[in-house]
Amino acid sequence: MRTRRIGDVQVGAIGLGGMPMSIEGRPDEQRSIATIHAALDAGVTLIDTADAYHLHANEVGHNEALIAKALASYGGDTSDVLVATKGGHLRPGDGSWTLNGSPDYLKQACDASLKRLGVDAIGLYQFHRPDPKVPYADSVGAIRDLLDAGKIRYAGISNADPEQIRQANDILGGRLVSVQNQFSPAFRSSEPELELCAELDIAFLPWSPLGGISRAGELGSRFAPFAEVAQARDVSPQQVCLAWMLAKAPVVIPIPGSSRPETITDSVKAADLELSAEELTRLDAAG
Ligand SMILES: NC(=O)c1ccc[n+]([C@@H]2O[C@H](COP(=O)([O-])OP(=O)(O)OC[C@H]3O[C@@H](n4cnc5c(N)ncnc54)[C@H](OP(=O)(O)O)[C@@H]3O)[C@@H](O)[C@H]2O)c1
Repeated sequence: MRTRRIGDVQVGAIGLGGMPMSIEGRPDEQRSIATIHAALDAGVTLIDTADAYHLHANEVGHNEALIAKALASYGGDTSDVLVATKGGHLRPGDGSWTLNGSPDYLKQACDASLKRLGVDAIGLYQFHRPDPKVPYADSVGAIRDLLDAGKIRYAGISNADPEQIRQANDILGGRLVSVQNQFSPAFRSSEPELELCAELDIAFLPWSPLGGISRAGELGSRFAPFAEVAQARDVSPQQVCLAWMLAKAPVVIPIPGSSRPETITDSVKAADLELSAEELTRLDAAG
């Protein structure tokens, strides 16, 4: 697979989003492990997770533990795999998502993620979402402390606006390597953040790039130009969508979620799908 850069690390241009394997509607463990192994077989070297990707209150970090297990049981070399996790979101077990961006909590959460992932330093640690009850500078300050302490190799943020991206990069002393925001054909309001990341040479990881777990399958029927280009190219509309994103800027690294080997195997092919200027213009206009 073609690669792109996060910090000083080259990763496959399409990553794997772990969320569908751990929240509502998740498959059994065997299928999840097969999905992660299929991703690795296809050249995926960026796996996105979070401590909050779980269902019940007593299984915080379900997705991190699953990824650690899949990496450990993979037959091949996994030393080049960058696992990107997050802290700052919680799931109390009633289906809701809550926030805690306090520095003490983030440091505890990072320690717990380190244990579950079974590593000395987390590859990429992302502050999951700004907490309105905690000054943003305090939350990002905790991430800087984790970086300085060597508990995390790289620092990222998620769900941030342009001002927060600049602020975080300042607090981190220019060491912000990634921003993870929602971006898809249905949700384009993150274009300013994508453009700022391209300007600052920071990786931009679109989340829910296919429209989210429940709507990813409908991408072609919701956005006809994606289906038309897909038909002409004999590929899936989802592949066209990911290739369209990759063409936006060299810093873009989509992280489509998957819970089946077939879907991630299909998605990674987008890394080698080059769309023409005319196709990209049509897709830009679809909506
Ligand atoms: N930072 C944040 O706040 C935040 C929020 C949401 C998500 N995320 C991250 O972003 C990742 C991606 O988002 P998402 O999982 O919500 O949504 P998504 O990537 O838009 O959609 C995921 C669904 O797409 C289907 N799919 C994947 N590739 C496909 C293909 N080639 N053809 C047809 N269907 C395909 C999968 O189906 P199957 O399940 O059948 O394989 C999967 O359930 C998450 O997994 C998570 O890591 C981050």
